[in-house]
Amino acid sequence: MAMDATHVLHMNGGIGKSSYANNSSLQQKSFSLTKHIRKEAITSLYRSMLPRCLSIAELGCASGPNAFIAVSEIIKIVEKLCKEMNHKPPEYMVLMNDLPGNDFNNLFKSISSFKEKLSNELESQIGPCYFYGVPASFYGRIFPNQTLHFVHSSYSLQWLSKVPEGIENNKGNIYMSNTSPLNVLKAYYEQFQRDFSLFLKCRAEELVEGGCMVLTIVGRRSENRSSKECCYIWEVMAKALNDMVLQGIIKEENFDTFNIPSYTPSPSEVKLEVLKEGSFTINSLEVSEVKFESEKCESFNDSGYNVSQCMRAIAEPILVNHFGKAIMEELFYRYQEILNDHMSKEKTNVINVTILLTKKPYERF
Ligand SMILES: C[S@@+](CC[C@H](N)C(=O)[O-])C[C@H]1O[C@@H](n2cnc3c(N)ncnc32)[C@H](O)[C@@H]1O
Repeated sequence: MAMDATHVLHMNGGIGKSSYANNSSLQQKSFSLTKHIRKEAITSLYRSMLPRCLSIAELGCASGPNAFIAVSEIIKIVEKLCKEMNHKPPEYMVLMNDLPGNDFNNLFKSISSFKEKLSNELESQIGPCYFYGVPASFYGRIFPNQTLHFVHSSYSLQWLSKVPEGIENNKGNIYMSNTSPLNVLKAYYEQFQRDFSLFLKCRAEELVEGGCMVLTIVGRRSENRSSKECCYIWEVMAKALNDMVLQGIIKEENFDTFNIPSYTPSPSEVKLEVLKEGSFTINSLEVSEVKFESEKCESFNDSGYNVSQCMRAIAEPILVNHFGKAIMEELFYRYQEILNDHMSKEKTNVINVTILLTKKPYERF
């Protein structure tokens, strides 16, 4: 049976060396590239609606500093608008969503320091701000009808609800690759279409009229589904696993039955699903690019280290679920070695597809 991501997927929790909280600077960089989109969206939303309670949902929040970036920006913009308009600030309802395996405890522990930092930065008391955790898959209804004003999600919607069915012949690969049979590429795309259209349908029911969503998805520019720009990082993982099969450390059938439940769409694939679903107006669709390394790597003098740590924080739980914990040190050591070699020759970037959507008026009967 195809792996259901809901029960398996989560980022490495805690605040240790391999935690997501300490290895998500790449994802953090993309926030600055998409900030103008959130600013445009919340400014126009707040001015037109003037809600007394503004509800913001952060979907796929994980745990660590990134969970609070968009919320913090949004509150700052609204507080500034209120000053300009001489309005009393609204109350804020912040809904933090992720899958049930997420480290919500670690997330909740940082709420008070987040509020304190925000008040210090604004040099004033902000409107009351209530936080809630929502542990469930966003590929389903998770909020009541017409209750959300602003939905934000970054680096989460490339995860599928499950590994596509019927890709047993994707031998030697763990994701889409240029050696994957055509049925594999098709199955991945169709799973993305099913998941993303369900996501849009659910959010359309939960958002108020005129409510908006800013979604940043790891994707690609090319229309080629197995383009290196999105598949390379998993091809390296497949190579490391394959080397371990050849040395008898991993069983071949174990390797052959492992595939990653993810899909990196092109801007036109994202747009097509929005148009087909029909509940949203597309206000903007942008592509940006982040270099896959961090400042830290200069001191380690090997660029593969940070990428490997970042991928470990993301993929370790899913790999442990299939291969067991015992091989993880060895696997990520090999992964890093292959990356070092590659990154000394070629740039390794991540492509972001960011879309701003506004909920169309409800049809009245
Ligand atoms: C790479 S992290 C991104 C975290 C954070 N938004 C950031 O930008 O750093 C992706 C997160 O999406 C969550 N996720 C994946 N599929 C999900 C789903 N169906 N429902 C809710 N969360 C999901 C994962 O558990 C993970 O915490």
